[in-house]
Amino acid sequence: MAGNTVRPIDEADRIVVGRLVLELWGAHTAVAHGEVFFPASLPGFLVEQNGQVLGLLTYAVNGATLEIVTFNALRRGRGVGTSLLEAAVQRARQLGLSRVRLTTTNDNLDALRFYQRRGFKLCGVRPDALRESRRLKPEIPTVGEYGIPITDELDLERWVAPRQ
Ligand SMILES: CC(C)(COP(=O)(O)OP(=O)(O)OC[C@H]1O[C@@H](n2cnc3c(N)ncnc32)[C@H](O)[C@@H]1OP(=O)(O)O)[C@@H](O)C(=O)NCCC(=O)NCCS
Repeated sequence: MAGNTVRPIDEADRIVVGRLVLELWGAHTAVAHGEVFFPASLPGFLVEQNGQVLGLLTYAVNGATLEIVTFNALRRGRGVGTSLLEAAVQRARQLGLSRVRLTTTNDNLDALRFYQRRGFKLCGVRPDALRESRRLKPEIPTVGEYGIPITDELDLERWVAPRQ
């Protein structure tokens, strides 16, 4: 990925991050497991090339877990996602955390492939969780990738420290 740089989001990026989150996720919020997040105010990483943003990941830390809240490659299949994910794993290790976790939806087959090929394992399924998510964020579409109805949440995790 020559020429691409991964760097932490800093305060000067907040407006750009807010705009990207709105464009990519249809609102200023992200919802997972019944919780509402405001990604533009979270820590995270950007991938840039020649000053242009190619990818964005935001996360929240909860106990010994780094939770990925939003994760996007603006140009797919060029290693942007891999770089962002590795930055998040490295950050979790730096912070002395045990695991990296995320929630995705049943339609997101590309993301399921991506995460499982990078050490993540399924650790939870919430059938019909999207009913509650749409109550919190009505902008969530009813149909997702490959024309699959978006109904369920799937949790994946990767341990980054040896289990006690
Ligand atoms: C998930 C996501 C962040 C991955 O980012 P990415 O930059 O495409 O990832 P990479 O280029 O590092 O790797 C993608 C994999 O798909 C392959 N690929 C090839 N062409 C591709 C394409 N057009 N689109 C997606 N993946 C492609 C890559 O070769 C790689 O394969 P591998 O797993 O066998 O190594 C990205 O697909 C994305 O933004 N998805 C939409 C938002 C989303 O669903 N986010 C996750 C929410 S939980």
